[in-house]
Amino acid sequence: MMERPRVMVNCALTVDGRLANPDFSPLEISCIEDKKYVHMLRASHDAIMVGVDTVIHDDPSLLVKKEYFKSDKNPIRVIIDSKGRSPKNARVFDGMAQTIVITAEECKEEFPNATVIRAGRGRVDLAKALQFLKKEGISSVLVEGGGKIIYSILRAQLFDRFRVYIGPMVLGAGPTIRAVGDSGGESSASTDKYIPIRLRLCDVQRIGNGVALVFEPENNNG
Ligand SMILES: NC(=O)c1ccc[n+]([C@@H]2O[C@H](COP(=O)([O-])OP(=O)(O)OC[C@H]3O[C@@H](n4cnc5c(N)ncnc54)[C@H](OP(=O)(O)O)[C@@H]3O)[C@@H](O)[C@H]2O)c1
Repeated sequence: MMERPRVMVNCALTVDGRLANPDFSPLEISCIEDKKYVHMLRASHDAIMVGVDTVIHDDPSLLVKKEYFKSDKNPIRVIIDSKGRSPKNARVFDGMAQTIVITAEECKEEFPNATVIRAGRGRVDLAKALQFLKKEGISSVLVEGGGKIIYSILRAQLFDRFRVYIGPMVLGAGPTIRAVGDSGGESSASTDKYIPIRLRLCDVQRIGNGVALVFEPENNNG
């Protein structure tokens, strides 16, 4: 089996399992205590990974913000972007930390202040992408969303820990459900989405006015 870095997935959900507003705009789910914890997590990982749609909708800097956690370390920012759709003026290209964009092999796009690597045909092959990062000396990756990348990582069992912060809010019905589990056109058999990804609960923490649940894959023997 090819080696990959340790992978922790982290996200914030509403009580009804939403990651964002129905129009994809960011939803303030995390309390200040959770934000501090997430910035500590960032500082303790070699890289932070997000999908291109999170870059498009949230434009995150993915830096360790001093207001939340004092650290000199900014992990490498990794964007999963098969077709090179990331806006060139996105904050991840501000040169404040190293950035790697992982595209499909056919993609010819280049980005400012970023290294482009290619893994997979048509769509980024996440297993290959993680193996590449390991070869580059990256030992730990924090996956911060969005729902499609999280789903693909969970479905392919490419993770060691899955932390979910549940904030005290319910979004209710909306035209688009933005829960973890949206495959986003994953090419695997459509029936896959009805097969549960089984998890084992490792930890429960009350954080501010919400709760954090930490899981590992059910079949984790490590
Ligand atoms: N609450 C939270 O913790 C949190 C965290 C982050 C984001 N968000 C929210 O999540 C939303 C964005 O999430 P999203 O699910 O729409 O998108 P996403 O996961 O950020 O990005 C998905 C895109 O990544 C690309 N991709 C490439 N290879 C992939 C693969 N193997 N598997 C899956 N995707 C792959 C696909 O585009 P290509 O085919 O073009 O490559 C896909 O459309 C935003 O509304 C944001 O506000 C919430």
